[in-house]
Amino acid sequence: MQPDEEPGVRINPSILAADFVNMQAELARIDAADFVHVDVMDNHFVPNLTFGPQMVERIQATSPVPLDVHLMIDDPERWAPGYAELGAASVTFHVEASADPVALARRLRAIGARAGVAVKPGTPVEPLFEHLDEFDQVLVMTVEPGFGGQSFMPETMPKLSALAAEARRRGSAVWLQVDGGISAATIERAAEAGADTFVAGSAVFGADDPDAAITALRALAAHHHAPR
Ligand code: DX5
Ligand code: ZN
Repeated sequence: MQPDEEPGVRINPSILAADFVNMQAELARIDAADFVHVDVMDNHFVPNLTFGPQMVERIQATSPVPLDVHLMIDDPERWAPGYAELGAASVTFHVEASADPVALARRLRAIGARAGVAVKPGTPVEPLFEHLDEFDQVLVMTVEPGFGGQSFMPETMPKLSALAAEARRRGSAVWLQVDGGISAATIERAAEAGADTFVAGSAVFGADDPDAAITALRALAAHHHAPR
Protein backbone atom coordinates (compact mmCIF):
# COMPACT_ATOMS: atom_id res chain seq x y z
CA MET A 1 0.00 0.00 0.00
CA GLN A 2 1.29 3.45 -0.81
CA PRO A 3 1.43 6.28 1.75
CA ASP A 4 -1.50 8.17 0.24
CA GLU A 5 -3.94 5.25 0.36
CA GLU A 6 -4.86 5.79 4.03
CA PRO A 7 -5.52 9.51 4.19
CA GLY A 8 -5.29 11.14 7.57
CA VAL A 9 -2.72 8.92 9.29
CA ARG A 10 1.05 8.68 8.90
CA ILE A 11 3.58 6.03 9.94
CA ASN A 12 7.10 7.33 10.56
CA PRO A 13 9.65 4.59 11.31
CA SER A 14 12.43 5.61 13.69
CA ILE A 15 15.90 4.78 12.43
CA LEU A 16 17.08 4.62 16.04
CA ALA A 17 16.18 0.92 15.69
CA ALA A 18 18.01 0.54 12.34
CA ASP A 19 21.53 -0.76 11.71
CA PHE A 20 23.53 2.49 11.71
CA VAL A 21 26.37 1.07 9.64
CA ASN A 22 24.01 -0.04 6.86
CA MET A 23 21.80 3.04 6.83
CA GLN A 24 21.31 3.23 3.07
CA ALA A 25 20.04 -0.36 2.93
CA GLU A 26 17.90 0.21 6.03
CA LEU A 27 16.26 3.27 4.44
CA ALA A 28 15.46 1.20 1.35
CA ARG A 29 13.53 -1.28 3.57
CA ILE A 30 11.00 1.37 4.63
CA ASP A 31 9.96 3.04 1.39
CA ALA A 32 6.28 2.53 2.34
CA ALA A 33 6.82 5.02 5.19
CA ASP A 34 5.30 8.49 5.16
CA PHE A 35 8.37 10.07 6.79
CA VAL A 36 11.63 8.74 8.22
CA HIS A 37 11.84 9.67 11.92
CA VAL A 38 15.38 10.78 12.78
CA ASP A 39 16.22 10.94 16.51
CA VAL A 40 18.97 13.45 17.34
CA MET A 41 20.22 13.13 20.95
CA ASP A 42 22.96 15.16 22.63
CA ASN A 43 23.60 13.37 25.97
CA HIS A 44 22.45 16.55 27.73
CA PHE A 45 18.72 16.85 27.15
CA VAL A 46 18.54 13.04 27.24
CA PRO A 47 21.06 10.51 28.61
CA ASN A 48 21.95 9.12 25.18
CA LEU A 49 23.86 10.23 22.12
CA THR A 50 23.14 9.56 18.45
CA PHE A 51 24.32 11.83 15.63
CA GLY A 52 24.21 15.40 14.38
CA PRO A 53 23.74 17.50 11.26
CA GLN A 54 26.47 15.85 9.17
CA MET A 55 24.86 12.42 9.46
CA VAL A 56 21.36 13.81 8.94
CA GLU A 57 22.51 15.60 5.80
CA ARG A 58 23.65 12.25 4.37
CA ILE A 59 20.36 10.61 5.36
CA GLN A 60 18.51 13.46 3.67
CA ALA A 61 20.54 12.89 0.49
CA THR A 62 19.94 9.11 0.59
CA SER A 63 16.38 8.64 1.81
CA PRO A 64 13.57 8.13 -0.71
CA VAL A 65 11.16 9.37 1.99
CA PRO A 66 11.09 12.88 3.57
CA LEU A 67 12.67 13.36 7.00
CA ASP A 68 10.86 13.96 10.31
CA VAL A 69 13.68 15.14 12.60
CA HIS A 70 13.14 14.82 16.38
CA LEU A 71 15.63 16.93 18.31
CA MET A 72 16.19 15.70 21.86
CA ILE A 73 18.81 18.36 22.50
CA ASP A 74 19.48 21.41 24.61
CA ASP A 75 19.62 24.82 22.95
CA PRO A 76 17.41 24.01 19.93
CA GLU A 77 17.58 27.73 19.00
CA ARG A 78 21.18 27.11 17.99
CA TRP A 79 20.71 23.85 16.06
CA ALA A 80 17.14 23.37 14.79
CA PRO A 81 17.25 25.83 11.86
CA GLY A 82 20.24 23.97 10.40
CA TYR A 83 18.16 20.82 10.05
CA ALA A 84 15.49 22.76 8.18
CA GLU A 85 18.17 24.26 5.95
CA LEU A 86 19.59 20.87 5.01
CA GLY A 87 16.15 19.95 3.70
CA ALA A 88 14.32 18.10 6.48
CA ALA A 89 10.58 18.26 5.78
CA SER A 90 9.74 18.46 9.48
CA VAL A 91 11.80 19.59 12.48
CA THR A 92 10.51 19.00 16.02
CA PHE A 93 12.20 20.42 19.13
CA HIS A 94 11.31 19.95 22.82
CA VAL A 95 9.34 22.69 24.55
CA GLU A 96 11.26 21.96 27.77
CA ALA A 97 14.53 22.92 26.04
CA SER A 98 13.40 25.98 24.10
CA ALA A 99 13.74 29.58 25.26
CA ASP A 100 10.99 30.77 22.89
CA PRO A 101 9.07 27.95 21.14
CA VAL A 102 6.88 30.25 19.04
CA ALA A 103 9.82 32.26 17.72
CA LEU A 104 11.72 29.07 16.87
CA ALA A 105 8.71 27.56 15.10
CA ARG A 106 8.41 30.74 13.01
CA ARG A 107 12.07 30.45 12.00
CA LEU A 108 11.60 26.83 10.95
CA ARG A 109 8.54 27.67 8.88
CA ALA A 110 10.31 30.60 7.26
CA ILE A 111 13.01 28.19 6.05
CA GLY A 112 10.30 25.93 4.61
CA ALA A 113 10.06 23.09 7.13
CA ARG A 114 7.07 21.93 9.10
CA ALA A 115 7.55 23.12 12.69
CA GLY A 116 6.99 20.62 15.49
CA VAL A 117 7.03 20.94 19.26
CA ALA A 118 7.49 17.93 21.56
CA VAL A 119 6.49 17.33 25.18
CA LYS A 120 7.91 14.75 27.57
CA PRO A 121 5.41 12.49 29.42
CA GLY A 122 5.36 14.78 32.47
CA THR A 123 4.95 18.07 30.58
CA PRO A 124 1.41 19.49 30.32
CA VAL A 125 0.05 20.50 26.91
CA GLU A 126 -2.40 23.23 27.96
CA PRO A 127 0.22 26.03 27.70
CA LEU A 128 0.52 25.19 23.99
CA PHE A 129 -3.17 25.69 23.26
CA GLU A 130 -3.06 29.44 22.68
CA HIS A 131 -0.15 28.97 20.25
CA LEU A 132 -1.45 25.89 18.43
CA ASP A 133 -1.60 27.69 15.08
CA GLU A 134 2.15 28.35 15.29
CA PHE A 135 2.95 24.64 14.99
CA ASP A 136 2.44 22.04 12.26
CA GLN A 137 2.88 19.14 14.66
CA VAL A 138 2.72 18.45 18.40
CA LEU A 139 4.65 15.37 19.51
CA VAL A 140 3.37 13.79 22.70
CA MET A 141 6.10 11.45 23.95
CA THR A 142 4.62 8.12 25.03
CA VAL A 143 7.89 7.08 26.76
CA GLU A 144 10.61 9.08 28.48
CA PRO A 145 12.77 10.22 25.57
CA GLY A 146 16.22 8.74 25.12
CA PHE A 147 15.91 5.10 24.16
CA GLY A 148 14.00 2.81 21.81
CA GLY A 149 12.26 -0.35 22.89
CA GLN A 150 10.52 1.04 26.00
CA SER A 151 6.92 0.38 27.05
CA PHE A 152 4.09 2.67 25.91
CA MET A 153 2.77 4.91 28.72
CA PRO A 154 -1.06 4.94 28.50
CA GLU A 155 -1.23 7.74 31.11
CA THR A 156 -0.14 10.16 28.34
CA MET A 157 -3.35 9.57 26.35
CA PRO A 158 -5.44 12.28 28.06
CA LYS A 159 -2.97 14.86 26.68
CA LEU A 160 -3.73 13.68 23.15
CA SER A 161 -7.48 13.81 23.73
CA ALA A 162 -7.13 17.35 25.07
CA LEU A 163 -5.01 18.42 22.10
CA ALA A 164 -7.42 16.81 19.63
CA ALA A 165 -10.37 18.59 21.25
CA GLU A 166 -8.56 21.93 21.16
CA ALA A 167 -7.51 21.41 17.54
CA ARG A 168 -11.11 20.58 16.62
CA ARG A 169 -12.37 23.68 18.44
CA ARG A 170 -9.93 25.86 16.49
CA GLY A 171 -10.37 24.11 13.15
CA SER A 172 -6.63 23.45 13.28
CA ALA A 173 -4.91 21.05 10.89
CA VAL A 174 -2.02 20.44 13.34
CA TRP A 175 -0.70 16.87 13.26
CA LEU A 176 -0.67 15.02 16.60
CA GLN A 177 2.28 12.66 16.82
CA VAL A 178 3.06 9.88 19.31
CA ASP A 179 6.51 8.38 19.81
CA GLY A 180 7.59 5.51 22.03
CA GLY A 181 6.32 1.97 22.42
CA ILE A 182 4.03 2.20 19.39
CA SER A 183 3.23 -1.26 17.99
CA ALA A 184 0.28 -3.29 16.75
CA ALA A 185 -0.63 -3.73 20.44
CA THR A 186 -0.77 0.00 21.28
CA ILE A 187 -1.41 1.98 18.10
CA GLU A 188 -5.19 1.65 18.32
CA ARG A 189 -5.28 3.32 21.75
CA ALA A 190 -3.21 6.22 20.50
CA ALA A 191 -5.35 6.58 17.37
CA GLU A 192 -8.55 6.54 19.40
CA ALA A 193 -7.16 9.25 21.68
CA GLY A 194 -6.55 11.48 18.66
CA ALA A 195 -3.07 10.76 17.33
CA ASP A 196 -2.71 10.81 13.55
CA THR A 197 1.09 10.51 13.15
CA PHE A 198 2.85 7.49 14.61
CA VAL A 199 6.53 6.89 15.21
CA ALA A 200 7.57 3.24 15.46
CA GLY A 201 11.14 2.05 15.84
CA SER A 202 11.43 -1.50 17.09
CA ALA A 203 7.98 -2.48 15.75
CA VAL A 204 9.13 -1.66 12.20
CA PHE A 205 12.85 -2.47 12.12
CA GLY A 206 12.38 -5.53 14.35
CA ALA A 207 9.93 -7.02 11.83
CA ASP A 208 11.03 -9.49 9.15
CA ASP A 209 9.38 -7.27 6.54
CA PRO A 210 9.47 -3.61 7.66
CA ASP A 211 7.31 -2.39 4.76
CA ALA A 212 4.63 -4.94 5.64
CA ALA A 213 4.79 -3.83 9.29
CA ILE A 214 4.31 -0.20 8.20
CA THR A 215 1.30 -1.12 6.07
CA ALA A 216 -0.27 -3.14 8.90
CA LEU A 217 0.27 -0.33 11.44
CA ARG A 218 -1.21 2.22 9.03
CA ALA A 219 -4.34 0.11 8.50
CA LEU A 220 -4.84 -0.31 12.27
CA ALA A 221 -4.34 3.40 12.89
CA ALA A 222 -6.67 4.43 10.05
CA HIS A 223 -9.36 2.09 11.32
CA HIS A 224 -9.28 3.61 14.81
CA HIS A 225 -8.57 7.24 13.98
CA ALA A 226 -11.53 9.57 14.39
CA PRO A 227 -11.21 12.35 11.79
CA ARG A 228 -11.43 15.79 13.33
C1 DX5 B 1 12.90 7.65 21.93
C2 DX5 B 1 12.82 8.10 20.49
C3 DX5 B 1 11.93 7.25 19.68
C4 DX5 B 1 12.33 5.79 19.62
C5 DX5 B 1 11.09 4.96 19.55
O1 DX5 B 1 13.38 8.67 22.73
O2 DX5 B 1 12.36 9.43 20.37
O3 DX5 B 1 11.73 7.77 18.38
O4 DX5 B 1 13.13 5.48 18.51
O5 DX5 B 1 11.43 3.63 19.59
P1 DX5 B 1 10.34 2.48 19.86
O6 DX5 B 1 9.31 2.58 18.78
O7 DX5 B 1 11.15 1.23 19.79
O8 DX5 B 1 9.76 2.75 21.22
ZN1 ZN C 1 11.71 10.16 18.39
